[in-house]
Amino acid sequence: MIVLGIETSCDETSVAIVQQKKNDEFGHILAENTLSQIKKHNKFGGIVPELASREHENTLNPLVKKTIKDANINLKKIDAYAATTGPGLLGGLLIGSNYAKALSLANNKPFLAVNHLQGHILVSRMKKKINFPFICLLLSGGHTQILMAKDYNRFEIIGETLDDALGEAFDKTAKLLGYGYPGGPIIEKLASKEKSSNFFKLPKPLINSNNFNFSFSGLKTSIRKIAEKPLNKSLKCRLAKEFQECITEILLMKSEKAINLFKKKKNITSFVLAGGVASNKFIREKLNFLCKKNSVEFIVPEKKLCVDNAIMIAWAGIERLKNKRNSDSLNSNPMPRWSLEDL
Ligand code: KG4
Ligand code: ZN
Repeated sequence: MIVLGIETSCDETSVAIVQQKKNDEFGHILAENTLSQIKKHNKFGGIVPELASREHENTLNPLVKKTIKDANINLKKIDAYAATTGPGLLGGLLIGSNYAKALSLANNKPFLAVNHLQGHILVSRMKKKINFPFICLLLSGGHTQILMAKDYNRFEIIGETLDDALGEAFDKTAKLLGYGYPGGPIIEKLASKEKSSNFFKLPKPLINSNNFNFSFSGLKTSIRKIAEKPLNKSLKCRLAKEFQECITEILLMKSEKAINLFKKKKNITSFVLAGGVASNKFIREKLNFLCKKNSVEFIVPEKKLCVDNAIMIAWAGIERLKNKRNSDSLNSNPMPRWSLEDL
């Protein structure tokens, strides 16, 4: 099976061709190209949707051509065309899905409408056998959820953020400290320069609440108040480190609760970390340690597969073909809001 995937839901234009060979359950990347728009959005301190759409419009066509050329593949060999159709920014979703629909029509092959979050979660299975059900902590720029993945197409949200997503909290913290977008890698770098902590004593919202929900907006308010006074570089590093430690402590607390509960209730043996924030080394290490302590297998994709990419979209397409969910209507519309519970 060979699937061409397109990802245009936010600020990356990405195209990938992934193959699953006979008698091999894993996926092989035949070609992948991703163009980041970060430089274009950076000066605005966040994503400008109209600008994102224009960039996708300009770059998608040459990127698809280049990817097909890189894979050195005849179009006849491609079994399906998959595109992210939600959740995300409508303009980008329309551009990517219409392109995939056109390819599907022209080549008489199925079109697959893929949920972006499903792509983030399933990509872990591309290189590693992970049996369902498993727990997934999904941390991206728009979502923060603890889920039970029951099968490739059935997800139950156990808990989620009541306000900001974790990636958004990283981005806003960086902005308050006077840095650009995306904030996650910047905060991670600043934090790595500092040794001591527990100076600012940041709040840890909902850490002891008896559920799996998160809240990060209060934390942001505290950081805003601290950042009202001028901070030198050393204090910025200290604040970045304390922010990173604070949110990690919350993640660990909720994850351990979920592991304990679902090990007993559902016999789960695996814990998957996914989404852009999952590329954070500190969070990866701490969760790895937590899983070891609780005797569950910890799985996190390589960093390049954590942040937005079309490999995960093509792979989600392959998982669908394997399960005989073979096509979607060319009349289907993108869904800027699309919960994993509504697949
Ligand atoms: O999954 P993703 O690439 O896009 C969405 O689906 O939203 O996640 C993007 C988010 C951004 O908020 C970015 O700041 C965050 O992931 N991020 C990180 C790191 N790299 C990206 N957050 C913390 N540490 C990182 N190293
Ligand atoms: Zn994403």
